[in-house]
Amino acid sequence: MKAIQVHTFGGPEQLVYSDTVTTPEPGATQVLIQNSYAGLNFKDTLTRSGAYHGGNPDLPFIPGIEASGVITAVGDKVSQFAVGDRVAYMTGTMSTKENNCYAQYTAFDAGSNIVKIPDEISMEQACACMVQGLTGHYLTTDAYRVKTGDWVLIHGAGGGLGMMLTQLCKRAGATVIGTCGSVSKAKQALENGCDFAIDYSAEDFVAQVKSLTKNRGVNAVYDGIGKTTFLPGLDTLAKRGTMVLFGNACGEHPDPIAPTLLAQKGSLSLIRPALYDYLLSQQEMQIRATDLFGFIQEGSLNIPVSAYYPLDQAAQAHRDLEQRSVIGKALFSIDDGSTC
Ligand SMILES: NC(=O)c1ccc[n+]([C@@H]2O[C@H](COP(=O)([O-])OP(=O)(O)OC[C@H]3O[C@@H](n4cnc5c(N)ncnc54)[C@H](OP(=O)(O)O)[C@@H]3O)[C@@H](O)[C@H]2O)c1
Repeated sequence: MKAIQVHTFGGPEQLVYSDTVTTPEPGATQVLIQNSYAGLNFKDTLTRSGAYHGGNPDLPFIPGIEASGVITAVGDKVSQFAVGDRVAYMTGTMSTKENNCYAQYTAFDAGSNIVKIPDEISMEQACACMVQGLTGHYLTTDAYRVKTGDWVLIHGAGGGLGMMLTQLCKRAGATVIGTCGSVSKAKQALENGCDFAIDYSAEDFVAQVKSLTKNRGVNAVYDGIGKTTFLPGLDTLAKRGTMVLFGNACGEHPDPIAPTLLAQKGSLSLIRPALYDYLLSQQEMQIRATDLFGFIQEGSLNIPVSAYYPLDQAAQAHRDLEQRSVIGKALFSIDDGSTC
């Protein structure tokens, strides 16, 4: 089958394409999925380079933590899925030992983190709903519950997760300020629903947020950037505001802070959540996915897929993400109708 493999941790050039990788056999509790699309996620770049904070997979490995496709075989003990079912699924735990989605076929455990795709939902949207959709869902419902009338600040609002968060916050009734690293991303962020967009490569986002909120500050900050935005972000929060720090796309984690700093800045809350702690069961995954599919069907969520890469262009896809030129969600288009 066609697949990307990493034999050595390193740069994008370590993503090696082959069309002679052995197709996996599903175990008794697994299904075999012919992937239509696999998602590109920032975490993939960290896993590829060996820099993920949750640990590294054993070499060699097939990267990729989300995909959608069609079941082509089921193990003897699988009763909840059948050949022909359209499914979306998410691999990879905090220890990141599992990957396997940059491939034509994936053998996957039928008991967790896999859902059937409703007929009305496209394979692309279903795939894009996995990591970034499920993350956006728990970040806006559980890490901090966004309410009508809230003001929120979303960093990297032109990125895949940033766009997802924007739409979910707007859906919940918030006013959204987005930051972006370029004028073109800021334009996209506005088109995606941000009420205001700040180019934080050129403007002081703290001053801008204070001005926009008439010095009151925002109720919540969603920060997936890390060290470069975290400390100044605390100064954009209203009293009793919440900092949701969920990533370090800038490459560095923030320095530790004293808890008293949160009191000094207005009795702030700080949470540093991780997706897998909000998907503790198949039921929890199903509830979140059902919500997201429902939002798409009612027209309040439209995940913008900006780029489709063939699998053999995986290195270029990683370069584009690392050079910050990907706007919105990017997918690998895998199923071209051929079989292995
Ligand atoms: N905690 C969780 O549960 C969880 C789950 C999924 C993802 N995440 C994290 O969420 C963040 C966003 O993930 P994603 O997959 O959706 O990526 P993404 O949003 O598509 O891209 C990341 C964004 O970060 C910004 N950025 C700022 N400095 C950067 C740098 N030095 N290099 C690259 N990008 C930079 C870029 O926007 P600008 O160019 O506009 O600045 C880029 O659009 C990542 O940190 C990821 O690890 C966390």
